[in-house]
Amino acid sequence: TPRIFSGIQPSGHLTLGNYLGALRRFVERQEEGIATVYCLVDLHAITVWQDPEALRSQTREAAAAFMAAGIDPARSILFNQSQVPAHAELGWLLNCVARMGWMNRMTQFKEKGGKNAEKVSLGLYAYPALMAADILAYHTTHVPVGEDQKQHVELTRDIAAKFNHDYGVEFFPLPEPVIEGPATRVMSLRDGTKKMSKSDPSDMSRINLTDDADTIAQKFRKARTDAEPLPGSMAALTDRPEARNLVNIYAALSGETQDAVLSRFEGKGFGDFKPALADVAVATLAPISARMSEFLADPAEIDRILGQGAARAEQISAPIVARTREIMGMILSR
Ligand code: TYM
Repeated sequence: TPRIFSGIQPSGHLTLGNYLGALRRFVERQEEGIATVYCLVDLHAITVWQDPEALRSQTREAAAAFMAAGIDPARSILFNQSQVPAHAELGWLLNCVARMGWMNRMTQFKEKGGKNAEKVSLGLYAYPALMAADILAYHTTHVPVGEDQKQHVELTRDIAAKFNHDYGVEFFPLPEPVIEGPATRVMSLRDGTKKMSKSDPSDMSRINLTDDADTIAQKFRKARTDAEPLPGSMAALTDRPEARNLVNIYAALSGETQDAVLSRFEGKGFGDFKPALADVAVATLAPISARMSEFLADPAEIDRILGQGAARAEQISAPIVARTREIMGMILSR
């Protein structure tokens, strides 16, 4: 039976990239009536420093974003990772299955660790094995993610296959990454070769789901572009990453193809295109941020919803992790 699992780190405000590449697609999967489990991965967030109070409010804000975007906690399981012990527990077990050489090849660690690899936390290095645990603890079959998480889902498949092979079992299904839609990699507004990220030092590089209409318009107005007018089709934008990114964002928001957007703006400059882009962005995001504010007015209710989600998540994951321990040779109390 298919089961969807995905997660988002509550390490800052969620961005337009998270919305188009992930959250919006989480809602589509829920609407298809598939079993969906969505996790705010606070244990992943602390692999880099998080102020404790900020982490708590970012986690509530992310929960509010999920619900405002259309995740219904009665139909999807919505919870924060640290409340369900299976994640940390299976994470350890899988640390002993994953190989150092595999971890060393993870490009995200190389980027985040960079020249400072001696000073980053041990958790940042083990991060992809914890992500594998998140996925495998639910016997997940499909993982909707943006392009940047593809390598981590492939690592998860390698870990599952090695576990099954080493212990001679068919226990963990190999999960499929589901990377689809027009916006699997939304780029920074300041640099068309870098992805839009919650953790970019420049707030001008991203649209946050909490930004108001004026801020959204200003960020698009100041977005880096070239001076050429827009061409009639995407093929002519291969060497213009910033322009390509803005057209992609427009198309993803309006539900049109990129070429349909370009056929309307052909020959026009960014002075015309950017305000139109801001308008479609505000039309999508303003209702979401308004609903987020309503949810955030009652943080105790958010905490209650996350607690209920955690209880349901535990019912699925606890027996899978207990069985994993048993397969590995550990004594279970009965
Ligand atoms: P995170 O928090 O960086 O991003 C959450 C989701 O948003 C997608 N995404 C983007 N998509 C398009 N354009 C962008 N600029 C962009 N930025 C982010 C990501 O691909 C992701 O789908 N390691 C994960 C969280 C995680 C997870 C998991 C995901 C932990 N455990 C288990 C799936 C399954 C992460 O850091 O995502």
